[in-house]
Formats: sequence, structure tokens, C-alpha cells
Amino acid sequence: MSVTILAIESSCDETSCAVMRDGVLLSNVIAGQEVHQQYGGVIPELASRAHQLNIVPVVDLALKQAGFERTDLSAISFTEGPGLIGALLVGSSFAKGLALALNIPLISVNHMQAHVLAHFIDEPKPSFPFLCLTVSGGHTQIVLVKDYLKMEVIGETNDDAAGEAFDKTAKLLGLLYPGGPMIDSLAKTGNPNRFKFPEPKVGAYDFSFSGLKTSILYFLRSETKKNENFVNENLNDICASVQSRIVSILLAKLEKATIEFAIKDVGIAGGVSANSFLRNQFEELGKKNNWRVFIPKFEFCTDNAAMIAMVGHYKFIKSDFENQSVIPKARLSINETF
Ligand code: KG4
Ligand code: ZN
Repeated sequence: MSVTILAIESSCDETSCAVMRDGVLLSNVIAGQEVHQQYGGVIPELASRAHQLNIVPVVDLALKQAGFERTDLSAISFTEGPGLIGALLVGSSFAKGLALALNIPLISVNHMQAHVLAHFIDEPKPSFPFLCLTVSGGHTQIVLVKDYLKMEVIGETNDDAAGEAFDKTAKLLGLLYPGGPMIDSLAKTGNPNRFKFPEPKVGAYDFSFSGLKTSILYFLRSETKKNENFVNENLNDICASVQSRIVSILLAKLEKATIEFAIKDVGIAGGVSANSFLRNQFEELGKKNNWRVFIPKFEFCTDNAAMIAMVGHYKFIKSDFENQSVIPKARLSINETF
């Protein structure tokens, strides 16, 4: 019998709905929220309101694009957390209502696990065990992926996430939110070796980006004192130099982990994996180390419901899901779902 999953993602500032049949993606509609741009970060209350506005049209469009009726669905999967609680409540309440009305199972999904399973939406797919560097606006993790639903975080950030390092730098430079894509595009014509930023000293596979953020702040302050147009005159070089430091920190730890765990299938996932410099450097490192490298398609790197459908699919076929009373959680470890 065929399995058709409708998935809902609403953890942050993207309202998304996907339809997947037997593991094959049929639609993936994503509505972004421009309202946050002017604030330099996501405003939780505004995000929740925008999800409320978007959710019905996004779900209707996803079903239409897939050519399915609600009554064709086998189950509904939704993002349980981690994320903004008000935003999660919109998606989870909608998912619960829909599952209840259709009398079909409701499957809660860990957002970070979903970023990892984005690798299974398209070919080529990694083999288990593989290592995944998951880098997003809220998380930076190196995950040892043993099976579809069996993962272990072997390293993570002690403070800011990699995406936050991009976004906060962008804010200091007077750029709009989200800063990652802006820095990515400005860095394309900049010199990555022009300015040197420090590498944090943290143990094993863990990360720390708050010190980098502070050093960028002090650097900009002191240079602007000498020349008030410093940022404007050097914007591309600053972006390229910061980006290069963030990427080198990420890849050095990932490389170290592949050696210790003797792993040759290696992936990157999450919003920051959309970064063109990270993607290039990761591929280069892969060639040097003989890795098979995996990078999800651009639209499956940033938040999307296709990845929530992917986890929903595996949980459904393995009958590995809880009951309808799951409560969304702002914080949720990847290991808590096992
Ligand atoms: O995974 P995601 O869409 O949402 C979370 O789960 O947080 O990640 C969003 C993060 C933001 O910090 C954004 O600036 C960053 O991903 N991002 C990028 C790029 N595209 C998105 N960072 C660097 N370069 C990019 N091209
Ligand atoms: Zn995410």
C-alpha cells in the first residue's frame, strides 16, 4: 500500500508544506517572511502571526501541486522542535486539527534530524554510517548518522550557531536579515585573506562563535574610528574574510571527526550549507580526503517541509511515532526522539 505524507514546517520564519508519496517528493511549498528584514533578526511574535496567515494557502497549494486531496493522505508530520515556541504552535495545532479531522496518524519530527535526512530527498544518497555537519541559524552540530532515525551528536556549539555568526556580522555591517546570503554574495568579489580573525579554542568537535562575533565588533569599532567609511570601502573584503574564518572553523572540526571515526561518506546540511564558499571548500576537502561528499539541493538546505516529510515517511513505515498529544518544544535534543 502506498504511503502519502503531508508535512508541515513552522519552526522559525518559513511556513512550508510538502507532500511525499512513498518517499518521492511531489510538492514543497515555502512561504518566507520579509517582515523580519528590517529588524536584523526574527521577531517571534511577528513570525507566529505570519505563520497564521500563510498556513492555509501554503497547505492548499502543496496539495494542489501534488495533485492530491486531503482524503488521499496516510499521515501528517510536523516539526515538534527545536524552534520558536509560538511559531511551532501554529504548525503543530494545524497538523493536529488536520490529522484529527481526517482520522489519520500524526507524526512529530525533530527539526535537526530532518535537516540531516534532507540528504535522502534526492539522489545521490549517503550510506550509513555517515557524518553530517548541520549548520543553521540556531544550531551547529557534527552528527554521526547510524541509520535513518538513529543519530548521535558528537560535537556542537557552546554558544552562537554558525548562522548566527553570519547574521550578527551582517547586522554589525548594516546589512539586512538574513545576513548569511548577503555575506555570501558580497564575499564573491572580496579577498578572504585581507583581514584575519581568531580561531576559537574549544575541545574535541565542539564550536564557539561568540568570541569571533566580539572580535569582529572590536575590529570594526577600531577601524571605523580611524576611517568612518571603513565598512563601506572594504565591505566585500570584510565579508570574504569573516566567511572564510567561519568556514575554516567548521571544516577543520569536520575533517578531524572523519579521521577519528574513519568515515568516508560526509554531508553538510542546514541553512548555512547553502553558502557557496562552504560548498566549494567542502568539495575541495572531500577530494583531498577521498570522501564521498553530499550536499542537499539548495532548497532543501534552508528550512523546508520536504525534510519533515522525509522523517515522517521513515517514522511511518517503521511505526515509530507517538500519539496526538505531543507538545512542541523550543529546545529538543536530536537524541530525545530515540
Ligand atoms: O536552517 P535554517 O533555514 O533555519 C534554522 O533552522 O535556523 O538556517 C537559517 C540560517 C540563517 O542564519 C541564514 O543566515 C543562514 O542559514 N544562511 C546562510 C546562507 N543562506 C542561509 N548562511 C551563509 N550563506 C548562505 N548562503
Ligand atoms: Zn533549520
